[in-house]
Amino acid sequence: MIFGRVKSLDAILATAEKKGLHRSLGAFQLTMLGVGAVIGTGIFVLTSEAAQKAGPGMLISFMIAGFVCAVAALCYSELASMVPVSGSAYTYTYAVTGEVLAWMVGWALILEYAVGASAVAVGWSNHAVGLLRGLGLDVPAVISNGDALMAKVQIAFGATVTPDLITATQVGGYFNLPAVIISVLVTGLLILGTTESARVNAVLVAIKILALTAFVMLTIPVLKAENFTPFAPTGATGVLGAAASIFFAYVGFDAVSTAAEETKNPQRNVPIGLIASLGICTLFYILVASGAIGAMGAQPVTSLTGAVLAPGSAEMAGRCASIVGGGAVEPLVCSKEALVHVLDTIGWHSIGRLVGLAAVLALPSVVLMMMFGQTRVFFVMARDGLLPAKLASVHPRYKTPHVVTAVTGVMVTIAAAILPVGRLADYSNSGTLFAFMMVAISVMVLRLKDPSRKRPFRTPAVWIIAPLAIVGCIGLYVSLPWLAILVLPIWGGIGLLVYFLYSRSRSHVGRGLDEVNEGLVGDLEPPVPGTE
Ligand code: ALA
Repeated sequence: MIFGRVKSLDAILATAEKKGLHRSLGAFQLTMLGVGAVIGTGIFVLTSEAAQKAGPGMLISFMIAGFVCAVAALCYSELASMVPVSGSAYTYTYAVTGEVLAWMVGWALILEYAVGASAVAVGWSNHAVGLLRGLGLDVPAVISNGDALMAKVQIAFGATVTPDLITATQVGGYFNLPAVIISVLVTGLLILGTTESARVNAVLVAIKILALTAFVMLTIPVLKAENFTPFAPTGATGVLGAAASIFFAYVGFDAVSTAAEETKNPQRNVPIGLIASLGICTLFYILVASGAIGAMGAQPVTSLTGAVLAPGSAEMAGRCASIVGGGAVEPLVCSKEALVHVLDTIGWHSIGRLVGLAAVLALPSVVLMMMFGQTRVFFVMARDGLLPAKLASVHPRYKTPHVVTAVTGVMVTIAAAILPVGRLADYSNSGTLFAFMMVAISVMVLRLKDPSRKRPFRTPAVWIIAPLAIVGCIGLYVSLPWLAILVLPIWGGIGLLVYFLYSRSRSHVGRGLDEVNEGLVGDLEPPVPGTE
């Protein structure tokens, strides 16, 4: 039963033909779209969390995460070139492994996109608070993070009360107002139908590339070899743990495949867009990480008893507050704006501020991209009858899917208001890794089931690459913190309940309607941001 209800590839392709979105994107624009969606909170903020987990060994973590994404991207490329329609991993699995697994993938993509959007919103908040501080406006801690709230929850649930935890309750905050503001603004923009234009996307990509280039040029010349030792103070476990978290920095390249329906010659351009955007980002990340480690050092901080603290934990927030309170320079691992902090520490204050400004200007588009991805997945699922069509109803005046956007916005805002960025990124990763793994499985299954179908792009050495992607995704998943590991089965369990109680009986494929009703919702889909 689990592999039943496969949606025929021909039906999916017929849907795409009927919808007939204008094909306007070339390889270069797709690459820009990918880079625009990828570079964000991961590199600007989570670099310090990766350092806390792995020390300078995070360089290896960046390479491992980049490698897993590269092999996953090669699998994505084959499917995206064969099935150039929206819905990405969800659509591919529907065509290959059937409805139940497709539902699970769509459900997991909610983690990727909605929780991912919250993580980026918190990363934006860190930079906005830093920038305002630079201008002499202090946003009180009580409304700029949820550290005190988390510490109190932990204590209420029986955690050992350490001095660091107490410090967190004293200096931490209760909710993240700037993250709430940006989430609400982006939701509003999406409801009003203001998608970002390709030109705005190109400017934002340029700003991010410029900021990272400046960072590399100012840090690499001053790197000190001794900052790289000890290289892996937390061993292989730490390096893998950091890879699992920093994986977030690469997420977003799959946005390229969701634009396949709007791409000229998608068979050629989608694979180029996916692989080129990933290549550019990997190169920058490795250079930026080397610069950060070499210029300022990246050793983890420990608790008073010598244990390496978990990044994003209330204890860690308390420990960092004590270190800074004692007059020491804030270590890289404590910083909420990693790159800005490195530049500040090595004396480039005004460039640091500009890098912070670049993050403040550019990260909202990543939030927008991820929230948009979320609404698009909801849309395709509603189009298939698996979610209520009401969810996809369109605002009479703005012509946007206001209900689904508002629901997404509320989820994103609540999560961003109270949770720390690293934790949100880890939860998002657990969903993304599942989706990537399913894509790799789908490529192999389709090679066996339908070997003669035209494959404009073939994953090279598929019987090596796809298994590597699967092993890589599982390896990173089990290296996540245990709470993030648990998120996927719990969320998946809720998903299965919804599926069997609601969606299964309403599915268009299940009711034999898959070719008739396709256009109902699909015709109303807005274009992908950055593609107009
Ligand atoms: N990769 C994106 C980021 O780092 C999601 O913000």
